[in-house]
Amino acid sequence: MSLSIIACIGKNNELGKNNDLVFHFKEDMKFFRETTRGHAVIMGRNTWRSIGSKPLPGRKNYVLTHQESELFTGAIAINNLKEFIKKNEDSEEEIFVIGGAKVYEQFLPFAKNLYLTEVDKTAEATVFFPKFKKENYRKQVIRSVEENQTNFKIIKYSKKGK
Ligand SMILES: NC(=O)c1ccc[n+]([C@@H]2O[C@H](COP(=O)([O-])OP(=O)(O)OC[C@H]3O[C@@H](n4cnc5c(N)ncnc54)[C@H](OP(=O)(O)O)[C@@H]3O)[C@@H](O)[C@H]2O)c1
Repeated sequence: MSLSIIACIGKNNELGKNNDLVFHFKEDMKFFRETTRGHAVIMGRNTWRSIGSKPLPGRKNYVLTHQESELFTGAIAINNLKEFIKKNEDSEEEIFVIGGAKVYEQFLPFAKNLYLTEVDKTAEATVFFPKFKKENYRKQVIRSVEENQTNFKIIKYSKKGK
């Protein structure tokens, strides 16, 4: 299994506010769709709720939760993160971690790649992307975009030595 994180963050690592996104950019959404389509995605229960409690189409959806699996129609509930990682260690599947903050924090040590849309703007937020050591990653700018008078870069960080 290869784990990749994908997120859109502000200048101060802003991720979301009141269980919604703080940034909405067409080009970022397009990149998200293109990158995750055909793969598995894993998200926390709050993010699942924020996307309307239904699965993202064309992807295998996993939801991290302490609740009953029957509540997540169209998705697979995961109650135990360590067991999940151990069970899938040898699979060929590429899994994208799509948030939110609590889930990014827990997966960061295991993720090989981070796809971060870095927005050149601050915003009011209630949740933030965890701090990570950029010097431990190779950095590749995938796209530089200007949309609605805001600049952002889509960057791939790949863990060195992997
Ligand atoms: N900017 C972006 O790219 C982006 C992407 C995604 C989300 N977001 C934003 O992030 C915010 C949501 O983030 P969040 O941190 O509040 O919530 P979250 O990470 O989406 O979900 C947290 C929930 O997931 C479950 N969970 C987490 N770790 C678990 C574990 N190890 N075992 C079992 N269950 C576990 C728990 O649910 P239970 O209560 O069921 O136990 C927990 O309350 C929203 O504002 C959303 O819009 C932003």
